[in-house]
Formats: sequence, C-alpha cells, structure tokens
Amino acid sequence: MSGLTRTSISIEADLLERFLKLARRRGLANCSEAIRHLMREALVREDWDSEAEVVGTITIVYDHHKRDLSDRLTAIQHDHHEMVLAATHIHLDHDNCLEMVAVRGPGVEVQKVADQLIGTRGVKHGKVSATMTGKAHATATDRAHATATHKHATAASKKR
Ligand code: NI
Repeated sequence: MSGLTRTSISIEADLLERFLKLARRRGLANCSEAIRHLMREALVREDWDSEAEVVGTITIVYDHHKRDLSDRLTAIQHDHHEMVLAATHIHLDHDNCLEMVAVRGPGVEVQKVADQLIGTRGVKHGKVSATMTGKAHATATDRAHATATHKHATAASKKR
C-alpha cells in the first residue's frame, strides 16, 4: 500500500460503536481497515456500472438434463471468449451441475455476460462476485491476454 494519508471524520458515537462491533465480527483489525474495506467495496460497485475493468466469477447451478442447456451456456461463453478467463465445471449430483466462470473485462460488459448466463432458462441459481484490478480501463493488450489464456473446458466438463 503506498501513500497513506490521515483523515478525520465525524460520526455519532453509537453508530461508530455498532460499526466497530461489526468490523470485529468480520475480522477487520481496526476502524481504519474497516473503512478502507467499505470504500473499496463502494468503488467496485461503481466499476460494475462503468467501463472500468473488473475481475470476478460468475457461478451458476443448473440441471444438465434440461434440453440444450449446457450447449447454450457454453455458446454464451464462446460469444464472449475475450472476457472468459477459465471455466470450471463441477457435477454436484445426478442432476445438477455447478459452473464457475472466471471473467475479466469492462464492468458493464461483464455484467451483461453474467445476466445472460444467469438469466438463461433452466438456470436454477446464479451469483456474481467481483473485485477490481486496480486499473481504470481495460486496454487492448489486456483483452488480448485474456483471450490467450482462455480455457473453455476442464477435464471434468469433457467427461460429461
Ligand atoms: Ni455436470
């Protein structure tokens, strides 16, 4: 971490007390760390609504017996291969599959891919988790790199 600066803020005593209790429960060492954590979260949320680069995972659960569903989900990932870094497929039980798709790209674009995957008919549950890469905007080089490391299927998904 570089260039730390000090600041002071005014907070109601009971609000601060409740916040510090929450921070301790979450394992954040002190007030500064807790506030930095909240600030980063707010900035990541902001990045998801912009062209700024985000990195994260899209997790979906679906029944692989549903007609064409696996193929449709794979097709969506191929349509956006420049943002898909890797995909891991886990056979949860006889019916259900869990797929984790690692993604990197402009926040708005990554969100669109997530919405498409999660919104595909037959997908039972989906979740996106994201963090920021620290870069304001994805460059062409970054996207080329993302394409180069693109992996479509794991050994597990080929066995299906
Ligand atoms: Ni499966």
